Amino acid sequence: MSQFRIKAPPLSQLQTHRSEKWREFPADVLPLPVAEMDFPVADPIRNVLLEMVAKSDLGYLGPIPELPVAFGSFAKKRWNWTLDPEQVRIATDVGVAAVEVLRLVTSPGDRVLINTPVYHNFANWIKEAGLELVDVPFHQVGQKWELDFSLIEQAYKSDIKVHLLCNPHNPLGRTYSPNELLEFATLAKKYEVVIISDEIHGPLTYQEATFTPFLSLGSIAEEVGVTITAASKAWNIAGLKCAIIVSQNSNMDAVLSRLPVATHYRASLLGAFATVAAFADGEEWLDAVMIELDSNRNLLKRLLVEKLPQVGYELPQMGYLAWLDFSDYAKSRPAHLMLTKGKVAVNPGSSFGPNVEGFVRLNFATSPEILTNAIERIVVALK
Ligand SMILES: Cc1ncc(COP(=O)(O)O)c(C=O)c1O
Repeated sequence: MSQFRIKAPPLSQLQTHRSEKWREFPADVLPLPVAEMDFPVADPIRNVLLEMVAKSDLGYLGPIPELPVAFGSFAKKRWNWTLDPEQVRIATDVGVAAVEVLRLVTSPGDRVLINTPVYHNFANWIKEAGLELVDVPFHQVGQKWELDFSLIEQAYKSDIKVHLLCNPHNPLGRTYSPNELLEFATLAKKYEVVIISDEIHGPLTYQEATFTPFLSLGSIAEEVGVTITAASKAWNIAGLKCAIIVSQNSNMDAVLSRLPVATHYRASLLGAFATVAAFADGEEWLDAVMIELDSNRNLLKRLLVEKLPQVGYELPQMGYLAWLDFSDYAKSRPAHLMLTKGKVAVNPGSSFGPNVEGFVRLNFATSPEILTNAIERIVVALK
């Protein structure tokens, strides 16, 4: 259990930040869309960056055996996943990792499956790689979001080459059970589909839920799967640019060995050593952040129950992105109303897929004061 609390600084300080979250909107807008957290960076990361800058150690990224070892120990401790560090590769970010792996395992025009509503860049990556997107959307059962495996099988049968899986799922905030993942793996083997599992949010899973790394599920998953992930979401270092690509099967390793050599050194030296610090020494900070996020996801629940009781909100099992159903207040474009009338920026549901126009995604990785203020502004905007 963590000994210290992590607090977001006051709004006036956050407004001096140079990142997208704090530059995209005018100063009178509370920015709660971009997936960045407002918390001070973990000391082990700060220290390695300060040391490298002080020494002017700012060249290209070369060999970094520390990274697979640090990720492997973290994965073992956190998820009981024993992985072969020889099959851990580096890329600039998860987006680059996805596009490079897609290019390797497909031919132009091949079909790639996603499950909307999902992180909007999945569609962009597929387009960037010159591929065709196929969607088997989630459907809602009560407040839960489920997939129909007969539709997944039908899609796999129809010449899908890759299934891009968001594990755990942004924006639905849901983990997959081992059984669900094994079902994907079994079907993928049967129909020769490659599963690319984007696990960037995995370390942010709350205590009551279980995140299962796809490649931890044994030989069938290892045969069909490639994991793309990073420390960037959980330790809030997206600007440092470093991600990892993991395989655990000799055939898949041979495929990935054809990645462009530059994929490695297009990641940043600072990012790679910050990633080592995160996985090797960043657990105490991560645990403290999870306490703060847990408190905020519940604060959001209380605020909504009190002020906007018709909003649909299932506590997320991971991460800091709340998926909120505002259909009872605004059938379409609630995010637009919030921005124009309330000066609160959130992501419109429609950016994650079709048929979710009444939803928004709200980032609660901030202070309780900013979160409370945002909900007060939204109440006014919806009046
Ligand atoms: C599921 C998912 N994958 C990837 C990313 C972005 O990763 P990167 O900045 O490393 O491309 C995000 C960012 O929010 C995300 O939610």
